Formats: sequence, structure tokens, C-alpha cells
Amino acid sequence: MSAGVNLDDWGPVHAVPTFHRARAGERTAPFGTRERPLPLIIDSDPGLDDALAIGLACASPEVRLLAVTTVGGNADVTRCTENALRLLHAYGRDDVPVAEGAAGALLGDVVRATEVHGVSGVGNTQLPASPNPARPEGAVALMARLLAESPEPVAIAPIGPLTNIALLLRAYPHLAPRIAHLCLMGGSIGEGNTTAAAEFNIVADPEAADVVFRSGVPITMIGLDVTHQALLDRSAARALRELGSESGRIAAELTDYALDRNLEWSGATTTAIHDAVAIAHLVVPDLVAVARYHVAVETGHGPARGRTVCDGLPYRLRRHGREPNADVGILIDRGRFERLLLDAYARLP
Ligand code: BDR
Ligand code: CA
Repeated sequence: MSAGVNLDDWGPVHAVPTFHRARAGERTAPFGTRERPLPLIIDSDPGLDDALAIGLACASPEVRLLAVTTVGGNADVTRCTENALRLLHAYGRDDVPVAEGAAGALLGDVVRATEVHGVSGVGNTQLPASPNPARPEGAVALMARLLAESPEPVAIAPIGPLTNIALLLRAYPHLAPRIAHLCLMGGSIGEGNTTAAAEFNIVADPEAADVVFRSGVPITMIGLDVTHQALLDRSAARALRELGSESGRIAAELTDYALDRNLEWSGATTTAIHDAVAIAHLVVPDLVAVARYHVAVETGHGPARGRTVCDGLPYRLRRHGREPNADVGILIDRGRFERLLLDAYARLP
């Protein structure tokens, strides 16, 4: 299903893919409905926008949140795990298990984004303690158990570096068919954000991303091309605060912190809520327009390390004997996205 948006309006897209305009196509990602919620695991490094993404999932009857697993990324993994537990507690979802995963990349240096998210991962926001500890089995074993036990295939939304997902695919290859879809936030057809070439979640562990994109598991790549259109501003933060709830306070503070950082660095008065777009795509069938691409990850150690090389040009794919391996997000209706988030937070405690 293609998005109900004007595909000729490429204005907000910061880089137009290839010399032709990729046409939006049918999505391959499943989506949940109230009648048939999609079983979902979120693999995350909370994280300001991760926190908003988890809130959206908690409030959406279209998904059945089975677990939140954590990975080192925006902050150290122990902080990310604590944040995940506390966020779920604030969102009234102590029933959702949390398990800690990889502290850092498979190979190479540990990369953090504390300049964006603060050392805590959640800026200055105070999150009340959760009564729950993390599950002792760890992220990869928990994902494997849930995949094996679920009566139907499970969608995974990786919204941090892909280390845990690569480990899962390597340690339990027989469970790959139990993954209904990987709807991941990461990469970019165009420019990067952490480097000129690469987006944070991919450059934080390019080898893991390479394993994932070569795995054959159905993938949607929600990259910067689309997330840079999914913007909130001060009025959205105000609306979240005016909900008067604990979840609304948290979401408002996270958004304000992200807005402050963006203003400081670039003079922009908006902030992209990257990770929530991956969840939104699983909740609303026609919000994000996607096009099929072959995505390859640059794992060399030059300036393009972590780049997602996206080829959507049919004659070139034929020439190199390649098939598309991912839906790639290209367009989103910003107004609908903002309303989706605000409506979701209005349902949280
Ligand atoms: C991604 O990087 C992280 O800092 C965010 O949480 C998001 O997952 C955006 O590039
Ligand atoms: Ca993230």
C-alpha cells in the first residue's frame, strides 16, 4: 500500500535518490490492526526518540509488545536498560519484559551519541524507578525464546545499532523465518548524520548491519530520508505537556531537550523523532511511503564507513544481478505523524 501523500512533493526530502525519482510501491512490512495486533519486539538504545517510539508502541492497540531489548548506542547499555525499565513503568507497562544486550559493536570502536541524548540517554528527564529488574537471560536469548514460542511470526523494530540482531541471526539462524519483518531505523539514501556518509545506528556497528542486510529476512529501512520529515516543534512539546499526565511530562521534556540541542547546533526549530517512524509504519498502513532498494553496507575503514548504499534503479540492479532486499522509507505526512504521537500519548497514564 502506498502512502496517501503527494509523491511529487519532494520538497522536504534532503536528498533525492538516484537520477530517477523512486516511485512508492507496495509495502512488504506487515501492520497490526486492533482486531489482529502484530506481535512486536523493540530492540532499542533509549535514547530520546527511542523513548517516544516505545511510548507509541505501548499506546497502540495495533501492536502486542512482547519485549524491549537493549543495546549500547546512544548511551551505555546499562543506562539504556534502566531507561527502558523506567519508561515502561511510566507508561503503565510493567508487564513488558526487558533484557540487556550487547554493550558495543561486534568489531571496532564503541560509538556513543551522548552529545545528542545526554550521558543518561534521556537528557535531563527524571524517570521514576521501576519495580522490575531486567530479565537475567539477556537480549538475544529472550528474543530467541519469544520467536520460538510465538504462535505467529514476530516483527522486530531495531531502533538502535544492529549488534543484537546480528548476534541473534548468527546464533539462531533457524529462527530467522520466525521473524515476520525487521522494521529498522537506520541508514540513509542520502547524507548521513554522524558522518557525512553514515547514519548513527549503522556507523555504530557496520559489520552487524552488513549481516542484517544480507540475511534474507524481510526488511524495511526507515532512514534519515524519511525521518528528517518526521518533525516535532515547541508547540508539539507544549501539547504533550498540556496532557497533564506523567507520560506527557516525560515526552514533553524529551522533545524540549532534543529541540534545545538542535537549536544550539543548527539553528533549527524542529527535531526529528527518528525511531517513532519505525513503530508508526507498523501501526498505520499508509503513513510512510516506501520504495524497493538493494541496500549494501560499507564496512571499509575509509570516510564512507557505515554508509548504506541504496540502489533502486532497475537496469543497474539487473546489470549486477542484484535483487532489492529492503523497502526504504521515502516520504511521510508530517501532520499525521504528529497527530499519531499526540493521540498515542493522550492514551498513556
Ligand atoms: C538514530 O540514532 C540515534 O541517536 C537515535 O536514537 C536514532 O535511533 C538516528 O540517527
Ligand atoms: Ca535509537
